[in-house]
Amino acid sequence: MLEVVLPNDANPLGNILGGKVMHLIDMAGAIAAHRHSQSHVVTASVDYVDFVHPIRVGQVIVLRSHVTRAFRTSMEVEVKVYLEDYVTGERRQTSSAFVTYVAVDCEGRPTVVPRLMVRTAEEKRRYREAMERRRWRLELAARAHRRYFENGRNLRTARNLRTE
Ligand SMILES: CC(C)(COP(=O)(O)OP(=O)(O)OC[C@H]1O[C@@H](n2cnc3c(N)ncnc32)[C@H](O)[C@@H]1OP(=O)(O)O)[C@@H](O)C(=O)NCCC(=O)NCCS
Repeated sequence: MLEVVLPNDANPLGNILGGKVMHLIDMAGAIAAHRHSQSHVVTASVDYVDFVHPIRVGQVIVLRSHVTRAFRTSMEVEVKVYLEDYVTGERRQTSSAFVTYVAVDCEGRPTVVPRLMVRTAEEKRRYREAMERRRWRLELAARAHRRYFENGRNLRTARNLRTE
């Protein structure tokens, strides 16, 4: 996926906004997940994203995405982000992220996805590593959910804010 960075997408220094890059990561990743599952998908989680180099107005942002592994109803997609400067010919990676999408039916219920066929050594390595990432991702999500939803603190905070 390619897009020219326009002033509307940038901060006052002329660098693309992080939120815009995250939006494009989500879109590029979703396309890979749609194509693999041939289904509607929702974003379940986005792993760590960092922004190593600024992408400037007038440069081209290039996103490459591929499914690394399909589980039962979810898929891990790796998205890599590059900047391309068509004047200087420079191209360099600026970000990467692992995004998990869940295939859903029209009611939003998770549905089973096809297995991913891996052939090359590189695809097999990514496939193996995806299981390890999934373990810690779900462990982190479980901890966060316990923190957010089970100790009632957020509910109390929300109620306090309403009464202030
Ligand atoms: C993602 C969603 C469909 C999961 O629903 P759920 O009731 O938890 O369903 P399940 O427990 O059956 O989990 C379904 C799959 O999601 C995965 N999943 C759930 N939460 C996850 C998380 N935080 N990170 C990664 N995967 C997750 C599960 O591992 C499972 O995958 P598997 O079938 O391959 O093993 C649901 O939470 C949802 O609709 N969330 C909102 C999605 C959305 O709107 N995103 C846009 C931004 S708000």
